[in-house]
Amino acid sequence: MKRLFSKKQTSQLNKAEVEPESLPNHVAVIMDGNGRWARKRLLPRVAGHKRGVEVVRELVKQCAKLNIEYLTLFAFSSENWRRPEEEVTFLMGLFMEALQREVVKLHENNIRLILIGDRAGFSDELNAQIEASEKMTAENTGLTLTIAANYGGRWDVLHAAKQMVAANPSNDSFNEEDIAPFLSMHYAPEPDLFIRTGGEQRISNFLLWQLAYTELYFTDVLWPDFDLACFDDAIISYQQRERRFGRTSEQVAKA
Ligand code: IPE
Ligand code: IPE
Ligand code: MG
Repeated sequence: MKRLFSKKQTSQLNKAEVEPESLPNHVAVIMDGNGRWARKRLLPRVAGHKRGVEVVRELVKQCAKLNIEYLTLFAFSSENWRRPEEEVTFLMGLFMEALQREVVKLHENNIRLILIGDRAGFSDELNAQIEASEKMTAENTGLTLTIAANYGGRWDVLHAAKQMVAANPSNDSFNEEDIAPFLSMHYAPEPDLFIRTGGEQRISNFLLWQLAYTELYFTDVLWPDFDLACFDDAIISYQQRERRFGRTSEQVAKA
């Protein structure tokens, strides 16, 4: 595997066990547990979301520093509209505020920002801010930061299938490769490592198609407490896995 770091840089990682030469190329995260983090402190749920944004900032910085190519964060699911209206309004406002505040910094750090999800659910102002942020960072060649907002895995597959059929109406024998270019993450390889914080062990309609062979990592740590040492733990767990993609261990060892 391609070496990403010199020996000297290796020591900057928090834990010696992380092997810098076999880092995941694409990390996808369900950032869960904000509400419980706040409740434990007798704060309103939204205080947890606010703190959660700080954790996002640190994780983005770390992924850029490690030369991880893709970081994909689940910020708002298509089912999260079922939450109390005031929480939804707060989350939309927080998203807008974070974009406004952070986009120049992302750009200065050569980070490309992309939003996946159904934008029809957002206000015109938010959509304008999203488009401007994507446009500003479109040519950047460092980390690709994907934010999944009003995203659902089933929506993604259905949307892609409809587009695929519309683009090739006379074709009656589609295969897996045909749908790939229409999926919302067509620009990225499938995630290597999936992380879910907050203790639940489920996918909650995140990237259903793309997670087929991703290594799954669940931790009880609540998102606002997920620090860089916790991220190291996830990477260490990933590095201990053997990815077989259907083959036998013996075949993998020989490859
Ligand atoms: C994740 O934290 C953030 C979003 C879903 C927007 P939660 O808000 O789901 O926190 P818990 O799961 O209730 O603790
Ligand atoms: C998943 O978390 C969605 C995001 C983190 C954005 P939820 O808290 O909504 O998931 P469930 O409802 O517990 O499955
Ligand atoms: Mg939750």
